[in-house]
Amino acid sequence: MCGIVAYIGSSNALPVLLDGLRRLEYRGYDSAGVALLQSGRIDVRKAVGRIANLAEEIEKNPVSGQIGISHTRWATHGAVTRENAHPHSDRSGRLHLVHNGVIENYQTLREQLIERGHEFHSQTDTEVLAHLVGEAFEQSATQDKGSLVEAVRSALRQVIGTYGISVVHADVPGVIVGARRGSPLVLGIGKDEHFLASDVSAIVAHTRDVVYLNDYEIVALQAEGFEISTVSGGGAGFQISRVEFDASSVDKGKYPHYMLKEIHEQPNTVRDAMRGRLSLEEATAKLGGLNMTNSELRAVDRIVLAGCGTAFHSAMTGEYIIESLSHIPVECEFASEFRYRNIPLQRDTLAFVISQSGETADTLAALRESQRKGHRTLGICNNVASTIARESDGGVYMHAGPEIGVAATKSFTSQLTIFTLLGLLLGRIRHLSHSEGRDMIAQMEKLPDLVARTIELESQVAAIAKKYAQAKNFLFMGRQAHYPIALEGALKLKEISYISASGYPSAELKHGVIALITEDTPSLFIAPRDAVFEKNISNIEEVKARKGPVIAIGTEGDTALKKICDDVILIPDAPHYLSPILSVIPLQLLAYYIAVELGCDVDKPRNLAKSVTVE
Ligand code: M6R
Repeated sequence: MCGIVAYIGSSNALPVLLDGLRRLEYRGYDSAGVALLQSGRIDVRKAVGRIANLAEEIEKNPVSGQIGISHTRWATHGAVTRENAHPHSDRSGRLHLVHNGVIENYQTLREQLIERGHEFHSQTDTEVLAHLVGEAFEQSATQDKGSLVEAVRSALRQVIGTYGISVVHADVPGVIVGARRGSPLVLGIGKDEHFLASDVSAIVAHTRDVVYLNDYEIVALQAEGFEISTVSGGGAGFQISRVEFDASSVDKGKYPHYMLKEIHEQPNTVRDAMRGRLSLEEATAKLGGLNMTNSELRAVDRIVLAGCGTAFHSAMTGEYIIESLSHIPVECEFASEFRYRNIPLQRDTLAFVISQSGETADTLAALRESQRKGHRTLGICNNVASTIARESDGGVYMHAGPEIGVAATKSFTSQLTIFTLLGLLLGRIRHLSHSEGRDMIAQMEKLPDLVARTIELESQVAAIAKKYAQAKNFLFMGRQAHYPIALEGALKLKEISYISASGYPSAELKHGVIALITEDTPSLFIAPRDAVFEKNISNIEEVKARKGPVIAIGTEGDTALKKICDDVILIPDAPHYLSPILSVIPLQLLAYYIAVELGCDVDKPRNLAKSVTVE
């Protein structure tokens, strides 16, 4: 949540900052601002809303400089107003600061600062931090790089909460200071220029050499170098990493929206999730990142999967997939509830946290709580440099490439692919025979083609979307592993088109939901040809008897659904452990095309942000 970009070098900072902010807009888009330092003074420009509004403001009121910090905001403390937009300044007006995170003790600190004569101009927690740094700087004997770093250190020692920050001071013109705790910050290394950003996508067009800062680290950037130290005052080592993707991976390419691009990437992303992980010879999956021997895996007698939003739906689907393949009991937990619920975890429980971004605050807290209890806790992440990826005891990377659209799509199908690999691995250690393992591998190798064939249904789904786009309420129904797919379909529709939608197990219909059925309430049934197909048909009949319109997702070749449903989308046949990966794709497309039809901002739905780094 919130995005930070900072630049120091010999080029004009403004285009770097604006371009970086546009790439970070998925992290928040309530307001934006820049502070640029030139000739000993700092000019600030802010605007409510998108980066485009900020760019317009700057066009009317130009600003330039070779040193600058910038921010795109997702509001936590204080309304969406220009006053609350970052950067915020101290009482001298010469120090400016941008912040991602939440200062939990800001009220107390604010009251103390007011008593000491400070005046506040916003309702944000961030402004407190700016005043604290400014006050510490005022009190320092010298006015140089060292004293600015020391002032930041002194302020950070007083705050409780999370921060990724970037600070400039007009009295120390050749330096930008950054620091992190709980909110990501990456340093980009260029030739006589340096960058700071919340995410590499903001700077990858300029450099692919980066240092991912750790919690409690402070960095002082200059055009020609950088120094990293810790909040406690010691020095800190660092490792330069090479970013694997290039700027084109974070562009929309030929697609009008990231979401559509990412839906279309799925044949490749499911392939990449499996790449190098299937052994035909041993008829199993190889997941070296788990850091566990087969005998350790054999001892696992329970699995807990935790995640939020779409990652939670993938966990629910994973429960069906892993249990059916490995016969190990699996439980799912909302990561946001995990640490407060205090669930009993037996000794041989293996916990996984699932997160595309690897930065979701609730999921990170679940990881830490599970580890605190002494459990080996593994991560399933997409972002390889993320906090969850770094703090977990091992895990599996999705290798899906950057996911920018706020609505998660390709990360979901990558997660399901990984659960199938896990099911195969754990099943082969237990009861699956060599030939069953080989059969599964043969099926999995067909998956990218099946995904591509499902995406070819796009124009049919788009036409159905047009037909139902004006509905005010949508129901999604499925059974077994397709029940969480129904939940995911409802979530996709809600978040990008703002249509009220809910998902249920099909049989739950008659226990209450059926009261919602009207001629204007479409029901979408996921009803592939499986063991519960006939049961789904009965539920569809119940809806049709009450004149409810029904859209069904069925299996290619099916004729029964066409006789009773208003619209039918037929997906390729696949084994039960792969079928959810296919059935979710028409739901992603349906949500996408309904949102487009309604003129919604698909990639940046209201009130949301891609990476939820606050609790
Ligand atoms: O980065 P994560 O996978 O941890 O994100 C979890 C959720 O915030 C995320 O899936 C959210 O629900 C998406 N907007 C759903 O499309």
